[in-house]
Amino acid sequence: MSESMPHGGKLINRIDVHFSKENIRNSVELSKLELSDLELIANGAYSPLEGFMEKRDYDSVVQYMRLSNGLPWSIPITLAVEPLKAKQLKIGETINLIHGNTIYGVMTIKGMFRPDKKIEADKVYRTIDPHHPGVKKLFDRPEIYIAGPITLINRPEKMIFESFYLDPQQTRKMFKELGWKTVVGFQTRNPVHRAHEYIQKSALEIVDGLFLNPLVGETKADDIPSEIRMKSYQVLLENYYPQDRVFLSVFPAAMRYAGPREAIFHAIVRKNYGCTHFIVGRDHAGVGNYYGTYDSQKIFSHFTEEELGIKPLFFEHSFYCRKCENMASAKTCPHDRGYHVILSGTAVRGMLRNGVHPPKEFSRPEVVEILIQGMIETYINENSSIG
Ligand code: ADX
Repeated sequence: MSESMPHGGKLINRIDVHFSKENIRNSVELSKLELSDLELIANGAYSPLEGFMEKRDYDSVVQYMRLSNGLPWSIPITLAVEPLKAKQLKIGETINLIHGNTIYGVMTIKGMFRPDKKIEADKVYRTIDPHHPGVKKLFDRPEIYIAGPITLINRPEKMIFESFYLDPQQTRKMFKELGWKTVVGFQTRNPVHRAHEYIQKSALEIVDGLFLNPLVGETKADDIPSEIRMKSYQVLLENYYPQDRVFLSVFPAAMRYAGPREAIFHAIVRKNYGCTHFIVGRDHAGVGNYYGTYDSQKIFSHFTEEELGIKPLFFEHSFYCRKCENMASAKTCPHDRGYHVILSGTAVRGMLRNGVHPPKEFSRPEVVEILIQGMIETYINENSSIG
């Protein structure tokens, strides 16, 4: 597979900073998640979506993982308002989309509906357990979804790492300039540990470039903050990766923790950023014990490679083997489990929280330094504000 087409054939661009918002009377407040979705619809990352989903697309996505025109799409992208607010709004009306005191976009309302959140949770998250962080967020949202095409008129401000926020149009141009015909996308919400590095470099053996595309939108409180992670990615790339074969930029979406469904979504979005391949390892986008280790790989069998338009690269659970003295997986290592150092983002976070230096089989020492420094600074900042 070479040269990736945007999903649906055309990269959407719904950014218009000169849009005249005179005569708009009503405003709707967006959550952080909805604000990030607004920007990602507008910049084409969610192509072919042009707005928040109407009922026919929403129902079809929830039930069949496809838009109403049949195109694969696995996560509902919706805008929720309180019923009282919905009563003030009219179909056909254009409203402001605000967050805090700023107008970021506008939407022309094409539909309003009350979703069955239990069905949405059960289908999308495979559970209705309110302890699941994605399900909890869904259940906490207002009860009415309003839908319609959007225009982004004001880019959400980037406080840090501004130069790492690239739109799909820009990453596509970059990959072309780099001469990469095949590009593998890597999603992560964690610092890159040795298992991540192993699967990325295995993929790099067969494609031209690696697009390290960490998610920096809203995550669970116990995930490592994105500003610390970004520093750790930079130091890792500088020290351990060939500079001309990796490209780092951020994915400003919120994490849903929807496991398999989110793996499909992550792949489609990376195709829009210009990737031809996408890495799916163990328990991709999972949380707790809600999903089986390889459920996020198995779900790809619902679609043909042609209709997805991006080739998933599946990797087994990787670990460090003390006998091989190397990274490995069950596919490559014959030794007893007792030799295996099992790596995961959760384990790295746990060690750091308990003041334990993750060993070098786990994380590169330069990365550990950054993470520890970051945790200390976070601790000092949090405690200095207590007075
Ligand atoms: S995710 O929620 O963004 O998927 P994470 O940052 O932990 O979480 O994982 C990024 C990618 O690396 C995912 O594709 C995941 O499946 C994969 N991965 C993480 N740890 C391992 C491991 N030990 N072995 C194989 N794949 C892994």
